[in-house]
Amino acid sequence: QMAGPGVLVLFGVTGDLSRKKLLPAIYDLANRGLLPPGFSLVGFARRDWEDQDFRRLAYESVKEFARTPFREDVWRHLSEGMHFVPGEFSDPGAFEALAMAVKELDQTRGTGGNYAFYLSIPPKFFPQVIEQLQRSGLAERRAGSWRRVVIEKPFGHNLASARELNETVHQVFPEESIFRIDHYLGKETVQNILALRFANTMFEPLWNRSYVDHVQITMGEDIGIGGRAGYYDGIGAARDVIQNHLLQLLALTAMEEPTSFSAEAVRAEKAKILSSVRLPADLGTTTARGQYAAGWQGSKPVRGYLEEEGIPPDSRTETYAAIKLEIESRRWAGVPFYLRTGKRLSRRASEVALIFQRAPHLPFSHTDTEELGQNALVIRVQPDEGVTVRFGSKVPSTSMEVRDVNMDFAYGESFTESSPEAYERLLLDVLIGDPPLFPRQEEVELSWSILDPIEEYWSEHGRPEPYKSGGYGPASADAMMTRDGRAWRRI
Ligand code: BG6
Repeated sequence: QMAGPGVLVLFGVTGDLSRKKLLPAIYDLANRGLLPPGFSLVGFARRDWEDQDFRRLAYESVKEFARTPFREDVWRHLSEGMHFVPGEFSDPGAFEALAMAVKELDQTRGTGGNYAFYLSIPPKFFPQVIEQLQRSGLAERRAGSWRRVVIEKPFGHNLASARELNETVHQVFPEESIFRIDHYLGKETVQNILALRFANTMFEPLWNRSYVDHVQITMGEDIGIGGRAGYYDGIGAARDVIQNHLLQLLALTAMEEPTSFSAEAVRAEKAKILSSVRLPADLGTTTARGQYAAGWQGSKPVRGYLEEEGIPPDSRTETYAAIKLEIESRRWAGVPFYLRTGKRLSRRASEVALIFQRAPHLPFSHTDTEELGQNALVIRVQPDEGVTVRFGSKVPSTSMEVRDVNMDFAYGESFTESSPEAYERLLLDVLIGDPPLFPRQEEVELSWSILDPIEEYWSEHGRPEPYKSGGYGPASADAMMTRDGRAWRRI
């Protein structure tokens, strides 16, 4: 479906997210013919810029990061609809200029009074920007048009601040106009979890406590924090990605079949599962956290977290986190869900793995690998997107020996269609006004309720354990699994 006419106003246009993801995604949408001819993009930032400076920034980021090939005609048409409004968030005059600019676009490009405001800015500025949108009349919807506001995580720092933030946004925008971005939900492989489960018959009968031993949800990254010290320090791995991406993966993996794929039905099932999540009693032995120390990555030496620019030398922020969760439901009682994420690990890999119970009995000899007889179904979120099923097979020989093998589905082999980047899909959905891929406040709050006690426990119990960059994370994370007689999958 193609987006209808409208203006996208981008706050924080000079930031990393805008340069690496949003501007290229807009170009890719235009290139795929999914934006209407009059689509307009207005950048707002604290720079003394003219339209052409903004267009140059967009051009460079499209050249560097867009997925689809560069086409001069597409670019020319798109850039004609790009404008820049300079200003401070505190300056009412700048917002009046912004209001004039978008109204003019309604006249010249037929954008119909439809505006989406994308707040790609630190949350501490949300109250100010939201208030200015209201004061300048920009937030006010005229009959027959729409207003939408897009906010990026972090949605607060804990449950209390998430509620406060929500109230601020709600003072001006109704819930149906608020689009909260969790970009993992924009990924093809993540959306495919529900297709895999509910468009087939062969998986769902096994998808429960009678067959599944445990579930491992992993988001491994090889990168460090890069230039994001200001954002990351004091936030840490759990708030950065477990509160949102990994708990959303858990919800999609564990939820019941929705009555339909409408936003309401899917969100209701996700909320139900998130509210059945319980923490084990002893958080000391069922969680682990680490902080990357210096090491080697891709044959290059890399520095430790505490040596990164802008990080205080005594920072206790974790760059690795692992937690164990239980789900109190008939389907999942007694099946642990282990979640882990870390920066500067051996490689970049995100996956959801269902590890099945061991075969009750093996009536033949086998090589002594730990996992034989324990099947696994792995949804490879990225990279190398696909699904793997691991099972035992007879080794070709004159004897009856069994070894584990993998059966693989790879997107690249089965589809000629290329996957849209997550932000492409999400931006398009914002412009169309299609909400199923956006978490609602209830999910945000439930996720904080899960994380808050862990954060509180960690803040009172020592420091994160250093782990070597380029490795597999802290030893305490391995110990956490060994205690349960299990092991993390090697990524
Ligand atoms: C972001 C986090 O939400 O996701 C980053 O803030 C992380 O710390 C990023 O690097 C990873 O996204 P992806 O799509 O590369 O897995």
